[in-house]
Amino acid sequence: MANIKFTLNGKPQSVDVSPEMPLLWVLRDTLGMTGTKFGCGMAICGACTVHVNGTAMRSCSMQAAAIEGKNVVTIEGLSADGSHPVQQAWVEKDVPQCGYCQSGQIMGAAALLAKNSKPSDADIDEVMKFYICRCGTYQDIRAAIHRAVEIQTNGGAR
Ligand code: FES
Ligand code: FES
Repeated sequence: MANIKFTLNGKPQSVDVSPEMPLLWVLRDTLGMTGTKFGCGMAICGACTVHVNGTAMRSCSMQAAAIEGKNVVTIEGLSADGSHPVQQAWVEKDVPQCGYCQSGQIMGAAALLAKNSKPSDADIDEVMKFYICRCGTYQDIRAAIHRAVEIQTNGGAR
């Protein structure tokens, strides 16, 4: 066991866990934060995506020891009230179907927009192709990311 200290959704957090425990387990099982989903467990599907120091990371494949001192943001902390531009756009475009992959999709899209404030279709596809959706919401995801750009840049005026 090790005591791991990090920042979670803006607040100091401390957990006593095995240093090898996947971050996803820390979030879901130790801290009861179930917004981040388990899909493949092998860094393939993207369902478990969180931000670590502002970068989208697959929490199923990141050990607890690696988050010591880092800033971790989950879907629960992306905004206080669901008002992040990506979240607003997702609601407007009615993106989710079953919903299982969507917190990972949203975290991936938010990280993309933080680095590229006006991504092209090709930019979006290059990043989002690594997020698997069994319901096939890919076209809606792309449209929602373009809509999030509008919301982010001018409050949503078209
Ligand atoms: S559960 Fe982590 S990438 Fe699929
Ligand atoms: S919305 Fe069902 S898996 Fe993506």
